[in-house]
Amino acid sequence: MTMKVLGYAATSAKVPLAPFEFTRRAPRPDDVVMEVLYCGVCHSDLHQARNDWGFSTYPIVPGHEVVGRVTAVGKDVTKFKVGDFAGIGCMVDSCRHCNPCQQGLEQYCEEGNVQTYNGIDRHDHQPTYGGYSQAIVASQDFVLKMPAGLDLKAAAPLLCAGITTWSPLRHWKVGKGSKVAVVGLGGLGHMALKLANALGAEVTLFTRSPNKEADARRLGAHHIVLSTDDAQMAAAKGQFDLIIDTVPYVHDINAYMPTLNVDGTLVFVGFLGDISPMVSTLPMILGRRSVAGSCIGGIAETQEMLDFCAKHGIASDIEMINIQDINHAYERMLKSDVKYRFVIDMASLKP
Ligand SMILES: NC(=O)c1ccc[n+]([C@@H]2O[C@H](COP(=O)([O-])OP(=O)(O)OC[C@H]3O[C@@H](n4cnc5c(N)ncnc54)[C@H](OP(=O)(O)O)[C@@H]3O)[C@@H](O)[C@H]2O)c1
Ligand SMILES: [Zn+2]
Ligand SMILES: [Zn+2]
Repeated sequence: MTMKVLGYAATSAKVPLAPFEFTRRAPRPDDVVMEVLYCGVCHSDLHQARNDWGFSTYPIVPGHEVVGRVTAVGKDVTKFKVGDFAGIGCMVDSCRHCNPCQQGLEQYCEEGNVQTYNGIDRHDHQPTYGGYSQAIVASQDFVLKMPAGLDLKAAAPLLCAGITTWSPLRHWKVGKGSKVAVVGLGGLGHMALKLANALGAEVTLFTRSPNKEADARRLGAHHIVLSTDDAQMAAAKGQFDLIIDTVPYVHDINAYMPTLNVDGTLVFVGFLGDISPMVSTLPMILGRRSVAGSCIGGIAETQEMLDFCAKHGIASDIEMINIQDINHAYERMLKSDVKYRFVIDMASLKP
């Protein structure tokens, strides 16, 4: 049976999010239906609500850090049963047969992964709506198990901020002896500090915000570099094996490149679009350094990250909000005034 659901949607780039009623599909044989308990607020939600990337289709119900309780399962579902706690991240489907999909890299599906919101379902061609809503439906293959011991509220942001920083840390084989830097202390940045530290790396934060220093140390940074201070930037030369750049807006990376060690990589996970005015090839050629990008992570890798976090007692630092406060939360996020992820208590969403 289809289900009427209440959510919060942006109906254009220019208006605040507001209550929006829509219909969830009847579960297919492999579908899991979840009552949404908590949903993290990612800067991507704001980008897409406001069409920063130019591919928003309205109405948009954002939310891709979704934790809930299973309320129904299709007849072929084996991974979940009613009552289980489960999570949904940034994607809900992919072609499942291309090369990347077969390697567990569904996020790089050749046919494009189906985003949890602002996407189009591969079967009924209906728009996908995200976790700022009472319930959500997705194939079991794209639903994560929430390991026992994780606080569900604080674990919600792991489903995007966590996996997006975990994936490059793993791809570039970060471990004991690695030197990692993170640019920007927001939702992604604070998870990057925690995860890199737990993997055994020596961790540095680049920030524009001097007032974040004490927090950064508590979150796992061993060193802090104020990116607006030329002397501090110059002193950081030649150090890092990996820099994870989480900055959401266009910015100059020329100052960061010389801080990479020989063979080091700066990986963009934040800004999507044409990069800064000009990027000099000098540090790349003279140090075999690379500039790369990385998109969320595969489903198996996401489960690996959740299990790692449960084992190491890692979750997000969160500020709980009611859904009615979402527009205010977006304004605060624009001012980098988040410590360090807003999570919506979905119990606040009442008809
Ligand atoms: N690749 C992916 O798969 C993926 C997945 C999720 C999110 N994202 C993207 O990652 C970005 C970060 O998301 P988030 O949720 O972590 O955002 P966030 O919580 O707003 O944090 C971003 C941080 O970047 C710094 N910053 C902000 N504006 C800046 C500017 N103009 N110049 C320099 N630094 C700036 C600030 O840190 P300081 O105060 O420390 O400087 C800020 O706290 C967003 O663009 C989001 O869309 C990508
Ligand atoms: Zn996100
Ligand atoms: Zn595929």
